[in-house]
Amino acid sequence: MSAGPASSRRPSLLRALVRKSEPPRAFYAPEVFGRAAITNIAQALPPLERVYANIRFSILRPKLLSVMDLLLPDEGRILDIGCGFGLFAAYFGQTQPRRRIVGIDPNARRIEMARKVAGKLGLTEHEFMAADARDAAVRGPFDAAYVLDVMHHIPPEDQLPLLERLRDLLSPRGVLVVKDITTEPAYQVRFTELMDRAMVGWEEPLTYRHHREWGEMLSSLGFKVRMVRVPDVLPYPHVVIAATRR
Ligand SMILES: C[S@@+](CC[C@H](N)C(=O)[O-])C[C@H]1O[C@@H](n2cnc3c(N)ncnc32)[C@H](O)[C@@H]1O
Repeated sequence: MSAGPASSRRPSLLRALVRKSEPPRAFYAPEVFGRAAITNIAQALPPLERVYANIRFSILRPKLLSVMDLLLPDEGRILDIGCGFGLFAAYFGQTQPRRRIVGIDPNARRIEMARKVAGKLGLTEHEFMAADARDAAVRGPFDAAYVLDVMHHIPPEDQLPLLERLRDLLSPRGVLVVKDITTEPAYQVRFTELMDRAMVGWEEPLTYRHHREWGEMLSSLGFKVRMVRVPDVLPYPHVVIAATRR
């Protein structure tokens, strides 16, 4: 008769002691991050989208992503607003596999691709929904939400209501991370607009705001706000804002 695997034969006290001697999970840094995580994502995409992903990750570089990564909880439900092809859901899911990311984007083709990429990377808890974030049938609470280069694509009159909606979807102490483009120096925002126009054309409104203005809007909604500007070799005036629900 087989005695079973050694671990199941250990007396429970011994098992508890072994478990206690492991360092708390909070002391583990991600093992899959930066280039390795990005390569996995690129390999999960068809050729055209792979080129797009490589361009996106050369703008949103690993160091900027690490700033966002540290602001997001390492587990729980996280909302990704305007997830596109799910590049960043795939990135933040690889760095912390206990995250369950729900991505929303009105573009059904991108959502389909996001599902495929998550599936190939084994991120089976991620979910994706083709919907407009302003009225998507999504149920909270979420431990966190992030909006990565999306707020300036939202019509100006809808920006505050969307932030308010996101606040209401968060659990108490939940964090909303907004990555966007600030408006100074002026030549950098002009450069960013040219790059954005190349993607979306000249019809869609693009409403960039100064980071102080985003801060004031988020404060008016009761968030506690912190922000950092992130330097880059390319002339993008990146800003990352962490807004914590009180
Ligand atoms: C510049 S792309 C950013 C995509 C992704 N977050 C990234 O950083 O690669 C902007 C995305 O916002 C999405 N978007 C625009 N309006 C939206 C809305 N009302 N609700 C949700 N997503 C929206 C677009 O479909 C697009 O995928």
